[in-house]
Amino acid sequence: MKYPNQSRRRFLTTLGATAGVTLAGKSLFNIDKVFATTPYTRLNLAGLTLSSPTIVSYIAGVTAMQALPLTDQRSWAYQAAIHGTTMSGMMPDWNTCSHSTFELNFFWAWHRMYLYWFERIVRSLSGDPTFALPYWDWQANPYLPPMFQNPPTGSPILHVAARNASINNGTSNVGVLTPGVNNAFAQPIFEYTSVDGADQLIQLPHNQVHGMVGGIMGSTLTAAQDPVFFVHHANVDRLWDLWLANNSLNADPTSDSIWGGTSFGFFDENANAVSMTPCDVLRAAQQLNYIYDTEPAQVEQYCGNTQPCSSSYTVLVDNCIQKPPFYLNQGGYYGYYQFPISYQLGQQIYGYLQNPYNTVYLSHYGITCPTQPGVYWDVYLGLPVGSKPNRESPYYVGSYAIYGAGIADQPPDGDDPAEFSVPVNTAILAALKKLPKGGNIPVSFYTYGPPRTTAQGPAQKATVTIQSAQLTLQTVTPTGRAAGHKDEKKQEKKVIATLT
Ligand code: C2O
Repeated sequence: MKYPNQSRRRFLTTLGATAGVTLAGKSLFNIDKVFATTPYTRLNLAGLTLSSPTIVSYIAGVTAMQALPLTDQRSWAYQAAIHGTTMSGMMPDWNTCSHSTFELNFFWAWHRMYLYWFERIVRSLSGDPTFALPYWDWQANPYLPPMFQNPPTGSPILHVAARNASINNGTSNVGVLTPGVNNAFAQPIFEYTSVDGADQLIQLPHNQVHGMVGGIMGSTLTAAQDPVFFVHHANVDRLWDLWLANNSLNADPTSDSIWGGTSFGFFDENANAVSMTPCDVLRAAQQLNYIYDTEPAQVEQYCGNTQPCSSSYTVLVDNCIQKPPFYLNQGGYYGYYQFPISYQLGQQIYGYLQNPYNTVYLSHYGITCPTQPGVYWDVYLGLPVGSKPNRESPYYVGSYAIYGAGIADQPPDGDDPAEFSVPVNTAILAALKKLPKGGNIPVSFYTYGPPRTTAQGPAQKATVTIQSAQLTLQTVTPTGRAAGHKDEKKQEKKVIATLT
């Protein structure tokens, strides 16, 4: 269920857009040896207030950037357009953010680079040589950080009226995000193969924050105009470090020379063009000179491994289920479809899950909708039809939200259908227990969204179409993340069973 044409087009677009600032085959960026100072420390916003030096400097930096004309690449408008823009007349590096699923795996790396250069610009223009971006730990603190809320609680510079009103006034939050983060942390594979790698899985909770903050944050084309974007992404970036530290199996795709060698263009604090590759940003402390306030020792990754960094994937079921469109509305939506599981398949799944390195994924492909629905939806596998949803039940498998790919009125990413995968070991075992002879396992969806004010009017209905669903078995054959900085996992692939 890949979309090679769309992916290829997007890939070429990305490379083309950055070609102007890349010297043939060589990254301009090499500052490994430049740092003699202690690293900059990115602080948790939970410990900061409007008068904390970090916030005062962020406000000063944003103010200075907003005062610059669009022709200055350090300006607020130009920097936001590097992420995405609706302006015509493309300038160098505009619209280069990477969120596509499928073969592209630049989400964590591109956003790390983007934040790095943005942070240097704020540091320079704020006049605070110690400035480091703070981060919003939205798992622990799902309410919009106070300094971003409506004034006078928040700063007029950090506040954006074009967000959900109930998020801006602190009465509703962005929802439950830890299950999605845990799903990504449990995936040792970085890149997309038969199922989503960690670089894709981490986008689910990230998307949810975008959609729930809403307004301009709900579209890749406008999100980086909101100052909260950068503290949101500092947290996403922190999660890359935490993912690596979570399990000795987890490793970056350092032997993929296309991944490691693709250059992206940015501008530094003097408005000079610079470029970077993922290989330049694997070790944040060492290569980029910053750390997070409470993270464990960073796991150091190095490019150039000749060992394959992959695992074996076995497709269990490839059952293309065509669904009538799903109508997502503000809160309270419920819908489901049935996944047919034969007795034999059930027995196979039981057998597979005896091995702790095996994971069954439920994937949905070809997800499209006309406009940002402004909701996220909880997904259950095996929850009996008609029963009350309960996130504590074994059937809750995660939450989805759409941002970037799959939203038709948000080109260029919107042209690519979205896809979402979640691990379902616990849920499928619980469901199979109730189906000793095989049968249908329901997959159900419940939507949640911030309440709307009367002034906002009724929510725009967004018809979300899901083209197909698939259960996939992932087998990881671990040999460990060796001391020689190698991420070694054996590769092997065989089809066990196919249902059509
Ligand atoms: Cu490129 Cu969270 O967006």
